[in-house]
Amino acid sequence: MKGEGRGRFITIEGGEGVGKTTNIETLKQRLQHHGIKHGITREPGGTELGEAIRDLLLRTDTTPLNSMAELLLMFAARAQHLATVIEPQLAAGTWVVCDRFTDATYAYQGGGRELGAGAVAQLEQLVQGELRPDLTIILDIDPEQGLARARQRGELDRFEQEHVEFFARVRATYQARAQEEPERCRIVDAGRPLAEVQADVAALIDGFIGSAK
Ligand SMILES: Nc1ncnc2c1ncn2[C@@H]1O[C@H](COP(=O)(O)OP(=O)(O)OP(=O)(O)O)[C@@H](O)[C@H]1O
Ligand SMILES: [Mg+2]
Repeated sequence: MKGEGRGRFITIEGGEGVGKTTNIETLKQRLQHHGIKHGITREPGGTELGEAIRDLLLRTDTTPLNSMAELLLMFAARAQHLATVIEPQLAAGTWVVCDRFTDATYAYQGGGRELGAGAVAQLEQLVQGELRPDLTIILDIDPEQGLARARQRGELDRFEQEHVEFFARVRATYQARAQEEPERCRIVDAGRPLAEVQADVAALIDGFIGSAK
């Protein structure tokens, strides 16, 4: 049961270069417009430990990372993030917007790395207990189109260097999760011009804010 005074937890998800970080700005503007106190954070990362783990996960100059080790590192970063940033803010009534969260773990480690949803679900239960996002915006795009955007931005990280089949599995997992939880997970077609994507994101968050009041 969600207490009235508790903040809402909003996550933004999707493949490489789809526009998550760009659209966080829209979420921020709408929350400001409605006078809602909020914090913005990201995963993996969001804490000193989490950012160090992020560096280990994304760098390309180390020995290949075992998939299970990768999964556990994601949740190690998440445990720290939840305990020191996300939970205290939500408890204080501050809304939290997070750039990727556990849906990304289902998509990348469960789907992309083929560890399966069961392994992710076990850790989700262990690390998060009952905590789940209240709203998740999934930006959907053809992986090639997203990667082209990421490439324009500069050097590719360890995930961005994966094969097309990997990204097809990531995308399919996100889509399946949206089908399983249509109330929480809202898909936005991110292959369109930015202004159109932003308009959809703004409408979704405005609708959510309206229903949360
Ligand atoms: N709808 C759009 N049309 C064209 N370009 C876009 C669109 N949305 C974002 N971009 C551009 O694509 C690039 C990637 O966007 P952004 O960094 O927001 O993606 P991301 O999902 O956060 O990527 P990553 O998965 O690497 O964190 C940026 O240069 C951004 O300006
Ligand atoms: Mg980003």
